[in-house]
Amino acid sequence: TSALPPGYTIRELQKSDRADVLSVLAVLTTVGDITDTAWDERFDYISKHDDTYTILCIVDDEGKVCATGSLIVERKFIRNCGLVGHIEDIAVAKDKQGKKLGLRMINALDYIAERSGCYKSILDCSESNRVFYEKCGFKFAGIEMAHYY
Ligand code: ACO
Repeated sequence: TSALPPGYTIRELQKSDRADVLSVLAVLTTVGDITDTAWDERFDYISKHDDTYTILCIVDDEGKVCATGSLIVERKFIRNCGLVGHIEDIAVAKDKQGKKLGLRMINALDYIAERSGCYKSILDCSESNRVFYEKCGFKFAGIEMAHYY
């Protein structure tokens, strides 16, 4: 993460990031109206399971969240009880895109996955993001299927 642009730092999500991080996530998809209680409960659950969940934020020199990303470590039986990293919810604020914040976010999550003992990390993305993830070192590995409820 030493290669972040000057003035930016990367750190774990904090409870006080609520408004900032939810507005960054809105570039990705529908966030919904999250109440204080709902935020607190989800934040506390994630914090309590910090061997499974890592949520990172890149902040600017004023402490404003500009990018976020998540890693979920899945515990398998196959591959000798192997671990797989799932990279999820990568979002860079619209006015901060194109400064390598997305790339640095993926580098950081990748590093944590490897250090946690994962044998690979995987993610789902749209065709329009394929080149971005290739530049982050990922290779095309099939198709995504979804069943919405
Ligand atoms: N298509 C082609 N190339 C791209 C794209 C793209 N959509 N996005 C970035 N790149 C390239 C950049 O040009 C750069 O190339 P270079 O090293 O040759 O100069 C390289 O990828 C790194 O780009 P960054 O500056 O790190 O990209 P950015 O900070 O803008 O982050 C991201 C990329 C995360 C896709 C951002 O634009 C974003 O938040 N988009 C909206 C939300 C989104 O689609 N998130 C990903 C969903 S998939 C998931 O969460 C698993």
